[in-house]
Amino acid sequence: MTKLAAAEVAALDPYKFMATIGKRVIHPGGRVSTEALLARAHITAASQVLDVGCGVATTAIEIARRFGAQVTAVDIAPLMLERAEANVRAASMTGRVTVQPGDICALPFEGDSFDVVIAEAVTMFADRRRAASELARVCAPGGQVLATEFCWRTQPPAQARQVFLGQVCPACSSTPSTTGSRSTPLRG
Ligand SMILES: C[S@@+](CC[C@H](N)C(=O)[O-])C[C@H]1O[C@@H](n2cnc3c(N)ncnc32)[C@H](O)[C@@H]1O
Repeated sequence: MTKLAAAEVAALDPYKFMATIGKRVIHPGGRVSTEALLARAHITAASQVLDVGCGVATTAIEIARRFGAQVTAVDIAPLMLERAEANVRAASMTGRVTVQPGDICALPFEGDSFDVVIAEAVTMFADRRRAASELARVCAPGGQVLATEFCWRTQPPAQARQVFLGQVCPACSSTPSTTGSRSTPLRG
């Protein structure tokens, strides 16, 4: 196992940090969390769904496959977009899932464009207020915005808090009441 000094840990970006501790995708709550989110989402075959910060497009593909909906999957990272495209092709979902670049803080869509807007474990990497406002802006009236994030179940030691808030989730508040590992409908 690789052992890093504190200074080396501090120099890692969130993804290298997670890779170092053996995680390939940061997905708080795992599949259970996605299922909880999908159970709250009113997705049908007629829905236009936006998955922001789609990562490797696992959820986007699942939505297209399960509900027959049209899904637009956006991410800011070229590597994720590449992997997402490859996964969509491998799943034969190219007609249903469109992958494109996009920043959660400046989404490249007109207002009111989507029925359901999803962001799983993304706002913690961005200006959360701006991200929430963008997610709501592109969601059509009567639609839904659903986001999943981390929370502390118990207060961690100071050093763990420092690493988590400084390295992994720079946009997370350190206030327990404002960090959450749950699916929260913001609109709908
Ligand atoms: C923790 S991963 C979650 C991936 C996926 N949503 C999931 O739950 O499996 C966070 C994703 O958000 C993307 N991301 C980070 N900042 C972003 C931003 N400002 N706009 C869009 N995507 C962003 C990352 O590239 C990464 O793919």
